[in-house]
Amino acid sequence: MTDWDERYRTGDTPWEKGGSAPPLLELLERAGVECFGAGPVLVPGCGLGHDVRALAERGVTVVGLDLSELAIERARAFQVAGGESYEPGDFLDPAWRVGRSFTAVWEHTCFCAIDPKRRGCYAAGAAGLLGEGGMLTGVFFLTPHDPGEERPGPPFGTTVEELDSWFSPWFERVEGWVPQRAYPGRKGREWVGLFRKRAQAGVAGMAGSR
Ligand SMILES: C[S@@+](CC[C@H](N)C(=O)[O-])C[C@H]1O[C@@H](n2cnc3c(N)ncnc32)[C@H](O)[C@@H]1O
Repeated sequence: MTDWDERYRTGDTPWEKGGSAPPLLELLERAGVECFGAGPVLVPGCGLGHDVRALAERGVTVVGLDLSELAIERARAFQVAGGESYEPGDFLDPAWRVGRSFTAVWEHTCFCAIDPKRRGCYAAGAAGLLGEGGMLTGVFFLTPHDPGEERPGPPFGTTVEELDSWFSPWFERVEGWVPQRAYPGRKGREWVGLFRKRAQAGVAGMAGSR
């Protein structure tokens, strides 16, 4: 199991690029912040919070969540961009979801960071935090491994078909594309997906959220 705090402590963080995800900026250009609803927006696995601040500076109320307390401490040290906050916590822990609700989730390299056996918990977790019409948006690694990450995952890759199959019990896919804007070395290896939570999301969702 990955010790994320240790990876931040030792600087073993090849994913850390010092700025927000280019596909998020592309999505914002293409669809505007409106695609995230009225807020608040959750960024699970936010790391140092670059995407959190990119949303906050556009007027979105946004919460960055990360398992690593050290990442959260470092995220909080950045200059405040707007209505952002950060919390240490586990996105897969149902207890964390109690009493919380968001209009959208922005995903960037959290899905690929978790054990693939827990992807059902991830999908159920996202569904449990969103009301009807809520948006699960994200950029997903199809073929992972940044330079320096040639070892077995994380990151763990996925396919569009796999994403559809995990999310379809709760969400309909609204749009998906291979982003033109990417960090160096990631072009063509990622996929942006927008999934809208359906009314009467399936019974499978209830079971999977536990
Ligand atoms: C590959 S890093 C990406 C960080 C950030 N999204 C970025 O691109 O800079 C994965 C992040 O997910 C966090 N993480 C892993 N599992 C998590 C979980 N179950 N809940 C919340 N955060 C998690 C890790 O601590 C780490 O910061």
